[in-house]
Amino acid sequence: MADAAVYGRPLEPDRIDHAMAKKPPTSLKPETRLVTAGRDTKGQHGFVNPAVYHASTVLYPTAEDQVAHRSRYQYGRRGTPTSEALEDALRTLDGENCAGVSLMPSGLAAISTALLSVVGSGDHILVTDSVYRPTRNFCEGVLKRMGVATTYYDPLIGADIAKLLQPNTKAVFVEAPGSQSFEMQDIPAIAKVAHAKGAVVLTDNTWATPLYFRALDKGVDLSIQAGTKYIGGHSDIMFGCVSANAATLPALKATMNYLGLCVGPDDMFLALRGLRTLAVRLARHHQSGLTVARWLERRPEVARVLHPALESDPGHAIWKRDFTGACGLFSIVLKPMPEKAVHAFMNELSLFGMGYSWGGFESLVILFDCAEYRTATKWAPGGPTLRFHIGLEDTGDLIADLERGFAAMAAAK
Ligand SMILES: Cc1ncc(COP(=O)(O)O)c(C=O)c1O
Repeated sequence: MADAAVYGRPLEPDRIDHAMAKKPPTSLKPETRLVTAGRDTKGQHGFVNPAVYHASTVLYPTAEDQVAHRSRYQYGRRGTPTSEALEDALRTLDGENCAGVSLMPSGLAAISTALLSVVGSGDHILVTDSVYRPTRNFCEGVLKRMGVATTYYDPLIGADIAKLLQPNTKAVFVEAPGSQSFEMQDIPAIAKVAHAKGAVVLTDNTWATPLYFRALDKGVDLSIQAGTKYIGGHSDIMFGCVSANAATLPALKATMNYLGLCVGPDDMFLALRGLRTLAVRLARHHQSGLTVARWLERRPEVARVLHPALESDPGHAIWKRDFTGACGLFSIVLKPMPEKAVHAFMNELSLFGMGYSWGGFESLVILFDCAEYRTATKWAPGGPTLRFHIGLEDTGDLIADLERGFAAMAAAK
């Protein structure tokens, strides 16, 4: 594991202390913590929400203070009351094993910074073949140039990952369920083997959020979220975060500071506001997602639905053991048909937008194909594949829209 000393003087001991000093109120349920965490009403003159600090320069009262860097805050990039409120709220969500959270300008920045905090030249990492594609691009485009080798592995590998660990393997990257393809990974089994060999475990926990998968309690050292998705919840912010345990936090904070990463104040405010309603939105995405997935399972045009919360899914047992809910994102495999029929289906839909990203209030659909970039496993689902995001609309309306899509599909075949 990379030590903070590798990166020189830890730049923000005061902020690490701050992150570690306040213990989360463990007796409260996550839904309650989402409402109460990161709020200091007294310090806000009684207002419910914290102020949004648009800030770079911090002024010191005296020359002595300036020379000694004696100030609660030093500079806008290095933390403001707004960033601390959001960090505190996110930290309590990840539970007792979370020592601190780093806020990042996007989900991908959270992934790349977390990886950079644990590897150096000559190291080797293991990354699931089902990983979000830009994570793979980062490994191939930046880590490779730095002299870090990546081996991609079958997401279903479980404890057999032991066979791939090398003496210089510093990190194992997991993502469950897999991006677009929704394979479930046995994260506790992988973490046990990785830790025995001295490697840290990172996960992209965007799909479940810490509400439905407490990654740091299941053996993960660094848990990443693209806050652009469910934390924001309204498709209007770019944001990411990394929750770290005590062992990995110093190097994470140091790396973030070396890279000069921070989040704009308005996006931090919107992320904090999104957190307050995360539990109710996710519960609705869970229910509606399953309703639509079950309906799709019964359609004659559909060969398979890739959704780990469905009893028919091969990853269901692991999902049930480790997760407490599902979001609104899943995929389907259609029976073989001409591309023009799939396009006719998509073009007919009026309630499903065609766009990347997900986690907002609105329903989405994209056509995808993992075959061109998988290297450790073969992606051959047997038909065209679509990924759906089920939003907060009425499920009856969504199903009626899909019915019209299937009618257009039939007409175009
Ligand atoms: C699973 C997953 N992780 C990370 C990201 C990256 O997030 P961002 O777009 O905020 O960089 C995405 C975005 O689609 C994603 O789907």
